[in-house]
Amino acid sequence: MRIVMIGAGYVGLVSGACLADFGHEVVCVEVDESKVAKLRQGRVPIYEPGLSELVLANQAAGRLAFTTNLEAAGRGAEAIFIAVGTPSLAEVGSADMRFVHEAARNIANVVENFTVVVIKSTVPIGAGDEVERIIAERAPREKFAVVSNPEFLREGAAIADFKRPDRVVIGVEDDRAREVMRQIYQPIERNDGPIVYTSRRSSEMIKYASNVFLAMKVTFINEIADLCERLGADVLDVSHGIGLDDRIGRKFLNPGPGFGGSCFPKDTLALTKLAAEAKAPIRLVETLVDVNDKRKTAMAAKIVGACGGSVAGKRIAVLGLTYKPKTDDMRDAPSLVIVPELQAAGAHVVAYDPEGVGTAKSLLPGVEFADNAYACLNGADAGVVITEWDEFRALDLARVKACLAAPIIVDLRNIYPIEAMKALGFRYVCVGRGFGGEG
Ligand code: UGA
Repeated sequence: MRIVMIGAGYVGLVSGACLADFGHEVVCVEVDESKVAKLRQGRVPIYEPGLSELVLANQAAGRLAFTTNLEAAGRGAEAIFIAVGTPSLAEVGSADMRFVHEAARNIANVVENFTVVVIKSTVPIGAGDEVERIIAERAPREKFAVVSNPEFLREGAAIADFKRPDRVVIGVEDDRAREVMRQIYQPIERNDGPIVYTSRRSSEMIKYASNVFLAMKVTFINEIADLCERLGADVLDVSHGIGLDDRIGRKFLNPGPGFGGSCFPKDTLALTKLAAEAKAPIRLVETLVDVNDKRKTAMAAKIVGACGGSVAGKRIAVLGLTYKPKTDDMRDAPSLVIVPELQAAGAHVVAYDPEGVGTAKSLLPGVEFADNAYACLNGADAGVVITEWDEFRALDLARVKACLAAPIIVDLRNIYPIEAMKALGFRYVCVGRGFGGEG
């Protein structure tokens, strides 16, 4: 199959590299010339485990190429994927469709033989109809079909999610397009990976409903964690106990500082806008957006509380800045609210993150950055875990205590055992584990 991927951002790059690895011939088209130049030299601009190796191997095998020229790449392609960004429109919150529509107009100019236009970007329900209309203004209807094929890639595990997915969802209403999609995903079908064929609108809805449901699980357990702190229960036991019920499931029941990233915050907000416009407001989701926003500020207050009610003039060591581990992504990271709140309360913040510092530097002015976790904790009046990187789990806790000026750890991800922390003489404040989060 000859495939074109418009957009070499996170989704486009991972999807393009994985489709090339399936044996297809893939060209990624990207407007950013410097990004194309880097990728041609085999330099991958984002941190995603295994991605550099995959890009290099498939480039070397001649199955993956990068260009700025859709005109040349698009002609004769059997499928053109749209994987451009759909950021939140400022103040409105709905998805900004500018880049998708621009891609549709550009595709219309290169449609020759029958071309399947595959929307991978996260788009509002009904967006496929609009893309179809835009292309049909410039190209004959029998020459193309528009398909919805949402992505379910988690940053940090994106390659496994693409190659061994829980499911592939394909919203297609044209038989020829369905056959092309079947061939594209044949390697997954051969491994008994479930492929769901449905209407385009249902497929678009599955994407939003999946992300919003997961965001709801996280928000639910965060609120249960707060209640556990009031009533003296342990949220980890509660998660385990409820998660063993198959109908609930154990995943996404880890409490923390609130969800972040490029997807959950944007998609939850966009769904509330979509629902309000459709005159079927989803109050549950409106509430979860609000609860999650407020949680980040509440976490800063929790840290101040653990430090005896004031952080003025104190040195606070923050471990982890990215919105989750195994990524350098800082988009909507809880740290972007928590750290400035601590600074506003008079703290001097020193931070360490294994991958996020490059991006964090411009986003968190006034923060001192350390080269490793121990250097970060050295002389601090408290240590705060915001992101659960594995290397923080493995820290020598006695050494941590020796580094700190005061033995206070606020662990917003529950990565340390309460008993061990107590035995070492820490004041250990975590999330939802007994009265006040202190066991
Ligand atoms: C999410 C979805 O999981 C993917 O399926 C989807 O394709 C992707 O969005 C997308 O729409 O592109 P991602 O944003 O990479 O993936 O991250 P998640 O692993 O889902 O985590 C999202 C947030 O929830 C993070 O801030 C994480 O720390 C938080 N979280 C997650 C918790 O606080 N507790 C949990 O138990 C799980």
